[in-house]
Order: sequence, then C-alpha cells, then structure tokens
Amino acid sequence: MDPATLIPTPDVIPVHWGWFQLLLLVTFFMHILLMNVMVGTAFIAAVSHFYRDGGSSPATTAISEKLPFAIAFAVNFGVAPLLFLQVLYGHFIYTSSILMAVFWLWIIAMVIAAYYLAYIYKYKYLQLNKGRAILTGLITLLLLLVGFLFSNNITMMLQPETWARYLERPNGLLLNLADPSLWPRYLHFMCSAVAVGGMAIALFFSYKRHKGESGLQPWIRYGCSWFGYATFANFWIGAWFAGSLPRGLITMDSANGVFLLIFLISAIITAVFAVVLALREQVLPACSALLGTLALMVLVRDRLRSAYLQPWFAPDELTVQASYSPLIIFLLFFVFGIALIVWMLRLTWKNLDSEEVSS
Ligand code: HEM
Repeated sequence: MDPATLIPTPDVIPVHWGWFQLLLLVTFFMHILLMNVMVGTAFIAAVSHFYRDGGSSPATTAISEKLPFAIAFAVNFGVAPLLFLQVLYGHFIYTSSILMAVFWLWIIAMVIAAYYLAYIYKYKYLQLNKGRAILTGLITLLLLLVGFLFSNNITMMLQPETWARYLERPNGLLLNLADPSLWPRYLHFMCSAVAVGGMAIALFFSYKRHKGESGLQPWIRYGCSWFGYATFANFWIGAWFAGSLPRGLITMDSANGVFLLIFLISAIITAVFAVVLALREQVLPACSALLGTLALMVLVRDRLRSAYLQPWFAPDELTVQASYSPLIIFLLFFVFGIALIVWMLRLTWKNLDSEEVSS
C-alpha cells in the first residue's frame, strides 16, 4: 500500500503558513520550558524524599508549594502549540492520534490525577512524612508517562509508512515502539527536564538570597549540580539520539540539513557554556545560556520534523484562502493574555513572599 494514500487532504489556511510556524515555535518553547520545570522539579523532589525516607528539605518545601502552578502553566501552554500544530500538520497529528487514541485520551485522566496529587502534596505536606516519597514518585511517574505518550504521537505522525498497521489492529492501541529513535528522543527530553528542574531550584534560591535571606548557598549549589550533571548525561543521550536517526535523513545537500547542523552545533556550544557557568554557581548567566540552548534545540527539532516529512509534505504546499481578521484578533488576545499572566504571576509571587514573611 502506498502510505501517501493514508494521508488526509489538509484544510486551507487563512494566512501565510509562516505565521503559524512562528507561533508554533514560540508557544512550543514556552510549553517545553514549563514542562521541564514541572517534570524536573517533581523528579528531584521524589529522589530527595526517597533518599531522606520522606524527610523534608528547603528544596522540597519550595517544590511542594509551586508544583501545582507549574503543572497548570505547562498544561495551559501546551494548548497553544497544539492549535498551531493542528493548523499546519493536522492531517498528520490527527491520524497518529487516532492510531493511539486509547492512550491519547488517557493523557487527560493522567494529567488530572497528577494535578490533584500535586495539590495533596502541597496542602498535606507537613502531615505526609514518609508518604511524600510515594506521592512525589506517583506524580513523577504520571508525568513521565504523559511525556512518553507525547513522544510516541509526535514521532508516529512523522512516519506515515508505519500507519498501515492500523488496518490489522484497529483498536487505538498502537505506539511507535519499533522506531529506534523513540527511546533516546524521549530520554533526551526527560533528562533535559531534570536539568531545567535543577536550574529552576538554583534560580529560586538565588532570588531569595537576592531578597536578603542568608544560608542559601548550599541550595543554589544543589540546583546547579542537578543541572550540570543532568546536562552532562544529556550530551551522551543526545549523541545516542542523533545516531539512532534513519540514515540519509539529514544530508548537507539541502538547506534544511545545513540549518539543522548550524542550530545543533550552536546549541551544543551554549549547553557547554551553561554547564560550566552552573558548576561555577553563576546562576543568571547559566540560565541565559540554558534558555539559548533550549531555543536552539526547539529549532533543531523543527528542522528534524521537516526532514522526516520531506517525502510527504511541506507547509508551503498548504492553500491560503486569505482572511486576516482572525489572526489579528488572535494576536491581540495573545498579547493581552501574556500581559495578564505576567501580572498574575507577579501578584502571586508577592503574596507568597508576604505569606512567608508573616509565617
Ligand atoms: C502535563 C504533562 C505533559 C508532559 C510531560 C508533556 C511533555 C511533552 C514532550 C516531552 C513533548 C515533546 C515530544 C517529542 O517531540 O518527542 C511534548 C510536545 C507537545 N506537547 Fe506536551 N506535555 C504535557 C502536557 C501537554 C498538554 C496537556 C498539551 C496540550 C493541551 C501538550 C501539548 C504539546 C504539543 C502540542 C506538543 C508538540 C508540539 C510540536 O510538535 O510542535 N502537552 N510535550
């Protein structure tokens, strides 16, 4: 069977595809950053509780207070890239979502469960004692599972040649496990989450120190060490991921391959800087290098998608039926929404600060 016959006809789009591409990249960057903070801090809290037999530390106390926020933001900032992904690649992502429909729908239940458990962790923190290890372990497990299902869907959408399996097993239980790049790709994401979680901890305690609290250097070092060692491990996982990609997928004969390589090399350089700076406990410069790495890796991932889909589709093939007003209204709401979120965060931060001072 020719896999091309399985790809649905895409819808028309209202403005040039470049707009959606830009919005997809920007909003995905936000999603992945927040997802990393959420998964990474949950993981670090779980490890810390397991090591201390449920015992508490300044880092886990802070994580327990902020984890529900992190989950809420990561999920909400997942919605925007989902919309843009559907606009540009709907005929791929809808199909792969149907192939794994049962798992895909389970994501909703798993995210709700993780969110609920995070609130129990927050509000019952003092009473939980040994239960903290099990609770954070469970939250982490749920979030890791959700990430795994995302990696399955996002890789399966790129490989229409694997879709015909559905004709033999039309039960919505297909995953992309035969793809040798699935595990290294997924582990690359999750290891990056641990690194960013560590950096979030370092940033949090260095903010507190800036506000005048003393004795926080060990916790800044703690966060920086998680970041440094997890990123170091991720160089190897990244190399495994690159080595697992299909041969001939990336060639230097195309502009796409050249851009991918430029982004990748730049990302590796900024990552090395980030690790060195973090291990010297220079939190803000390390954080800037980390954000640069993350942005470049988002671009690498985007070029990789383009290489995978090259035999089947490119977004510039989409038909434009010009209608600019929805985009303008969207952009207005987007800017307004971001301003509102910033205002809300500042308010929450101020309240948390004053609660801590009064307690
Ligand atoms: C809460 C737990 C979540 C975790 C741990 C998580 C993790 C991930 C990971 C690891 C990827 C990258 C997959 C890959 O490229 O291999 C990803 C992509 C994505 N996530 Fe999430 N995610 C979560 C929730 C959500 C939710 C609730 C939404 C939407 C409502 C969402 C929307 C997206 C989208 C659209 C992409 C792909 C964007 C693209 O390919 O350009 N995520 N997520």
